[in-house]
Amino acid sequence: MPSASAAATASPNIALIKYWGNRDEALRLPSNGSISLTLAGLTCRTAVSFEADLPADVLTVNGAMETPAGTERVSRHLDLIRAQAGLRLPARVESQTDFPAATGLASSAAAFAALTLAAASAAGLDLPPRELSRLARRGSGSACRSIFGGYVEWRASDSDAQSIAEPLAPPDHWHLVDVVAIVSADPKAIGSTEGHRLAATSPLQASRVADAPRRLSLCREAILRRDFEGLAAVCELDSNWMHAVMLTSRPALIYWLPATLAVMHAVAELRRSGVPVFYTIDAGPNVHCLTPVEAHAAVAERLRAVVGVRQLLLAHPGGPAVLV
Ligand code: DP6
Repeated sequence: MPSASAAATASPNIALIKYWGNRDEALRLPSNGSISLTLAGLTCRTAVSFEADLPADVLTVNGAMETPAGTERVSRHLDLIRAQAGLRLPARVESQTDFPAATGLASSAAAFAALTLAAASAAGLDLPPRELSRLARRGSGSACRSIFGGYVEWRASDSDAQSIAEPLAPPDHWHLVDVVAIVSADPKAIGSTEGHRLAATSPLQASRVADAPRRLSLCREAILRRDFEGLAAVCELDSNWMHAVMLTSRPALIYWLPATLAVMHAVAELRRSGVPVFYTIDAGPNVHCLTPVEAHAAVAERLRAVVGVRQLLLAHPGGPAVLV
């Protein structure tokens, strides 16, 4: 084995067409395909070393010991990589994020993309990006997209080997800025993994999944043509449809806060006044407002004035997961 330790960085991504619900939960095969933009400047750095004298896997996040449940999820992911490498050693995993403290943006996508690349390399596996994407997906679905930079599509498939992400366009294809309006930094009561399980209990999930190929193709075309209005229309529809599924699940998932809705209204108002911007919201209350780079200062100025917005983060298109 060339090396028993390695470190990697990866960035989170914002879903433009959302993954919500699995056709196979154990394999994390999604109900529908998704498209995202990898975000620069919000990095997760993870170091992995396989050590014979450790009694079990240990995981620290920003210097603190991870909870037993968090460590267990990482151990199960390491097991996949150990099995592929024919390795039995426990691992020490140290993960650092440079997201500004308490923004509620701790991203499993960045974490599992960095972990997969670092652990595979430390285990002596030299894997192509598509294989890293497949493995990262097993840890957290959206992590398969963070293996790549820029605009990325994750294709839905019944097959473990085929359900992987691939790049649609590099980061410099189109300079959009994600102005993230942080309205709460509290940890969410229901995480995505639990939320995916509830998706099928909504009467709106079947129609959302059935229409996904059409939205994916509109989104793909809008990105390739740099058609902002086309992208805005399909992305807001997709985000609203996912939240309609959440709101109509049993039990209902209500991620929005009053300030979430205030930001959605401010975005509509900005657009009426001629500023190109749209919102998209993941499984939480914070609002991602996408805008061409030329308009981002106007968007930030308006959103800063919305009551309930605690902080704004600016993220630009980012690169792939890399070994460091
Ligand atoms: C709403 O990838 O976080 O952000 O596979 O259980 O880790 P797990 O779920 P995760 O789900 C992401 C849900 C979403 C939409 C998206 O990123 O596509």
